[in-house]
Amino acid sequence: MYLLTGVLQLSLLFSFVVDVTSSQCRCLYGQPCWPSQSEFSSLQNQLSQPLIHPVPPASPCYPLSHPSGNCTDAQTNQFDGNWRSNQSGSMQSPNFETFIFDNGSISACYMNTTLGVPCGQGSVPNVGIDARSVEDIQAAVKFSVKNNLRLAVKNTGHDYLGRSTARGSFMIWTHHLKNITYNSTFVPEGAPPTELYKAITLGAGVQWHEAYDAAQAQGRALVGGMSVGGSVGAAGGWVLGGGHSALAPSYGLGVDNVIELKIVTSTGEYLTANSHSHSDLFWALRGGGGGTYGIVTEVTYRTHPSMPLTALYFVANSTNNDTFRTLFTEFVRIHPNLSDSGFSGYAFVSSNGIQIFYIGLNVTQAQANKTIDPFFSFAQNLTSEGLNIATALTVPYPSFYSWYTSTSSIGQQVGSSDELASRLVSRDVIERNHRGIADAVLSLNSSGWLLVAGGAVAQVDPDSTGLNPAWRKALVHVLWGTGWQEGTPFSEIEQLRAVVARSLTRVSELAGSSAYFNEASMFEPNPMNTFFGSHYSKLKAIKNVYDPADLFVVTEGVGSEDWDASLNCRR
Ligand SMILES: Cc1cc2nc3c(=O)[nH]c(=O)nc-3n(C[C@H](O)[C@H](O)[C@H](O)COP(=O)(O)OP(=O)(O)OC[C@H]3O[C@@H](n4cnc5c(N)ncnc54)[C@H](O)[C@@H]3O)c2cc1C
Ligand SMILES: *[C@@H]1O[C@H](CO)[C@@H](O)[C@H](O)[C@H]1NC(C)=O
Ligand SMILES: *[C@@H]1O[C@H](CO)[C@@H](O)[C@H](O)[C@H]1NC(C)=O
Ligand SMILES: *[C@@H]1O[C@H](CO)[C@@H](O)[C@H](O)[C@H]1NC(C)=O
Ligand SMILES: *[C@@H]1O[C@H](CO)[C@@H](O)[C@H](O)[C@H]1NC(C)=O
Ligand SMILES: *[C@@H]1O[C@H](CO)[C@@H](O)[C@H](O)[C@H]1NC(C)=O
Ligand SMILES: *[C@@H]1O[C@H](CO)[C@@H](O)[C@H](O)[C@H]1NC(C)=O
Ligand SMILES: *[C@@H]1O[C@H](CO)[C@@H](O)[C@H](O)[C@H]1NC(C)=O
Ligand SMILES: *[C@@H]1O[C@H](CO)[C@@H](O)[C@H](O)[C@H]1NC(C)=O
Ligand SMILES: *[C@@H]1O[C@H](CO)[C@@H](O)[C@H](O)[C@H]1NC(C)=O
Ligand SMILES: *[C@@H]1O[C@H](CO)[C@@H](O)[C@H](O)[C@H]1NC(C)=O
Ligand SMILES: *[C@@H]1O[C@H](CO)[C@@H](O)[C@H](O)[C@H]1NC(C)=O
Ligand SMILES: *[C@@H]1O[C@H](CO)[C@@H](O)[C@H](O)[C@H]1NC(C)=O
Repeated sequence: MYLLTGVLQLSLLFSFVVDVTSSQCRCLYGQPCWPSQSEFSSLQNQLSQPLIHPVPPASPCYPLSHPSGNCTDAQTNQFDGNWRSNQSGSMQSPNFETFIFDNGSISACYMNTTLGVPCGQGSVPNVGIDARSVEDIQAAVKFSVKNNLRLAVKNTGHDYLGRSTARGSFMIWTHHLKNITYNSTFVPEGAPPTELYKAITLGAGVQWHEAYDAAQAQGRALVGGMSVGGSVGAAGGWVLGGGHSALAPSYGLGVDNVIELKIVTSTGEYLTANSHSHSDLFWALRGGGGGTYGIVTEVTYRTHPSMPLTALYFVANSTNNDTFRTLFTEFVRIHPNLSDSGFSGYAFVSSNGIQIFYIGLNVTQAQANKTIDPFFSFAQNLTSEGLNIATALTVPYPSFYSWYTSTSSIGQQVGSSDELASRLVSRDVIERNHRGIADAVLSLNSSGWLLVAGGAVAQVDPDSTGLNPAWRKALVHVLWGTGWQEGTPFSEIEQLRAVVARSLTRVSELAGSSAYFNEASMFEPNPMNTFFGSHYSKLKAIKNVYDPADLFVVTEGVGSEDWDASLNCRR
């Protein structure tokens, strides 16, 4: 160094500085480093589809700045998950389409035009690719690494922590990777020919309603998600983060049903991950989270025989809080028994009312009645103390598919702002302190009580996948959160966030601090422990092997602690 001439020293110093800044922070849209037209043209030459320029879904309502589209259509369909996922620029929760500057001002494009706010791009990426092939993804990944771009990998946009979008980013949109193949004699790559599965392979853009239809056509059942319209992705963030289902207590979580995945990594390699090939990556992909190891192009799942079930519906409320509390406390108390008796499903709880949608797979109606009748009688007794029971019955169905299609209104509508918090509640805690848990849940005023663990989920070796081992001890996933109207100022949003943060502390005191990666708070004090537990260091080591460029970084994901809050600059 000391021997170099001044000019050389200067140029070395200059290149050193450039290197440091370029690797320290991502290059964002609008910055001088952003790729030129000609660089985008050479990317375009490698793609099967035109580059896309995502816009917020409300942009048709702003004809002066965004002169195309149909505002009536946008306003009419804004709460439809399939309409939203059809658009590259739309998230399911529109708050993630917005961007809050450090000074508290908000860039957004509101459906509510009477607010008089101009349509801003917010956190919607500016340019992206509409991926239809492995080659499209390889080209886009190499382009992102070469230009040091902030990358958003987007499938349906359901992510509850906004992980599938980022302001100023470049997007790889997987929505149109729709291939579905059923194979009754599937053999994983590298496996002996005797290792056969009745399997279904889903392209990364397939959504649950499509996957369920395809499995049903073969008389098979799949462990999958539940939402109005079935719009959640079946082979993206859902499974990479865990994947819960009403069928999980019978067959394990989404991750437990994966046989094989195919993935493009940040080096542009296209790999097969299964228990015979890249088994470390296979381990990490099953629970290590979406947007973290690479871009999964397809997932192969086990299928299961289609089996009859008995559904349990119960809807009640009371103007007397104590009466309702007595009922809910009893409901919590019987959970170990409900689980052992084969029940699973979803309940929605307010401070004085509940709606229960449970199923018992392969449970006859007579068996189901025997399990639940004592609870129904308990509730019946409370009617003299002001409990209103709207529904209390069991109904047999020939298959999960028939239940799913006739109960498709379960769960919340999308299209409203949403920030969540959640905790996994272990069976042990419920057995020891069902009263405490019941009171904590009631104090949330409005929450989801999901009996999606226990049973088969608890029987899987916790170390056989990268998933948070807390799932194996859990019985119930409790989730709640906050939301606000469009146009709400940041100061009010902060107050709402503070309420959620306090409730999270309260629930954690009883339930501990483990949570489900896909449905949780963006403000976890110790996300690595909360989402990954003792698997964290191994997950991180595997990420370092397969993503040496550190291209894939998402909120509270593996490796994200090396980045600042914006995830644009290294710490
Ligand atoms: C209405 C609703 C219902 C839900 N129901 C359930 C449920 O029943 N069970 C459950 O477990 N969860 C459920 N969820 C949560 C769901 O698991 C998460 O929202 C999950 O992130 C959705 O994944 P996605 O691929 O559809 O969405 P996206 O938001 O597009 O992606 C989610 C994350 O995965 C990454 N990602 C997406 N595709 C890929 C890919 N091919 N390769 C690598 N990374 C990828 C993205 O970068 C992002 O980080 C629900 C969510 C909503 C909004
Ligand atoms: C706009 O959308 C609405 C609702 O979907 C539809 O009824 C109408 O025909 C559309 N208008 C145009 C001009 O396409
Ligand atoms: C989404 O797009 C698909 C394919 O173009 C179309 O069939 C479907 O009707 C669309 N869904 C909604 C709700 O717009
Ligand atoms: C806040 O910051 C943004 C981005 O720097 C800027 O465009 C906006 O004018 C600022 N708003 C106020 C009220 O200062
Ligand atoms: C739109 O915003 C206006 C002004 O704040 C408010 O009065 C109105 O209720 C909002 N409409 C909807 C549909 O949210
Ligand atoms: C989807 O299936 C078609 C027909 O088999 C095949 O040509 C194509 O390569 C597949 N696409 C992907 C992304 O696997
Ligand atoms: C099913 O898998 C077997 C074994 O891998 C393979 O030989 C066969 O071609 C596959 N069939 C289909 C329809 O993909
Ligand atoms: C019942 O609980 C709700 C929510 O906690 C509270 O607002 C209300 O005042 C309570 N009602 C009575 C009669 O205690
Ligand atoms: C279904 O239930 C019957 C009767 O209890 C039992 O014999 C059978 O093993 C169960 N099948 C499965 C796949 O769980
Ligand atoms: C669950 O409770 C019911 C009714 O109290 C009882 O008949 C049944 O044996 C219990 N089942 C299990 C698996 O504990
Ligand atoms: C219902 O009330 C009756 C009379 O008080 C009592 O004998 C019975 O045990 C109660 N049943 C339940 C399930 O609590
Ligand atoms: C409570 O239940 C009664 C009777 O089923 C129903 O009419 C009423 O709308 C419910 N109230 C609330 C706040 O859900
Ligand atoms: C089970 O209970 C339902 C009401 O929830 C009743 O209609 C049905 O006859 C009962 N079936 C059996 C087999 O006990």
